[in-house]
Amino acid sequence: MLNAVATRELIKTKRIVPSILSADYSRLGEQLTTVLDAGARVIHVDVMDGHFVPPITIGPVIVESIREQVHSAGGMLDCHLMVERPERQIAQFADVGADSITIQAESTPNLHYALQQIRNAGCLAGVAINPATPVDAVAEVLDVTDLVLCMTVNPGWGGQAFIESSPAKITRLRALIGPDIPLQVDGGIGPVTAGIAEVAGATLFVAGSAVFGADDPAGAYRAIADAAGAV
Ligand code: DX5
Ligand code: ZN
Repeated sequence: MLNAVATRELIKTKRIVPSILSADYSRLGEQLTTVLDAGARVIHVDVMDGHFVPPITIGPVIVESIREQVHSAGGMLDCHLMVERPERQIAQFADVGADSITIQAESTPNLHYALQQIRNAGCLAGVAINPATPVDAVAEVLDVTDLVLCMTVNPGWGGQAFIESSPAKITRLRALIGPDIPLQVDGGIGPVTAGIAEVAGATLFVAGSAVFGADDPAGAYRAIADAAGAV
């Protein structure tokens, strides 16, 4: 795990955040090398439990297997938990090297407590909201929040289309959270939508299929970064 000061600094910069959900797991290390060499420093890990969302994806064992590679490149592991009652999983992810843990506002009645637990575990705490969740859902937890994630698709699958009403919501969220908290967008992000989301106020751009589904993931990464004015 990097220290929280270093990771807080990393996410202050506008960045493309590749999601390994769309990577080829038979050559995950190679795929990570490609995006790290292209400039990525925040790697997004999508954790799904088959309850909060229908699919089951990956968990702490994968985080543990890539921690050294990502950390030795000066990168961080950004774990997005689409799981019910995420407070039960925080320690496991922190122990295997997660640097930030983002939980869904809809996934626990104890959101403030769970975010506090993430910080107590030494990680940055993120709160995500689904397309149907009003921006006000984050208003009472900002004192324990290091990043806000606006879902721009319904969670559960890569490769979906960016929801058209998202830019207005991103603008409302930015107004609510103020200028300093990193605002991440996730779902349907490519060169065009990254540019639109950036204008609306987003600063971290998760991209899965647009990077790893491309013939040239490094070139795709650069194209999205250029469109969003990101590194
Ligand atoms: C969706 C996940 C996303 C996913 C995005 O539930 O949270 O992080 O990887 O995939 P793309 O970029 O393909 O929309
Ligand atoms: Zn995600």
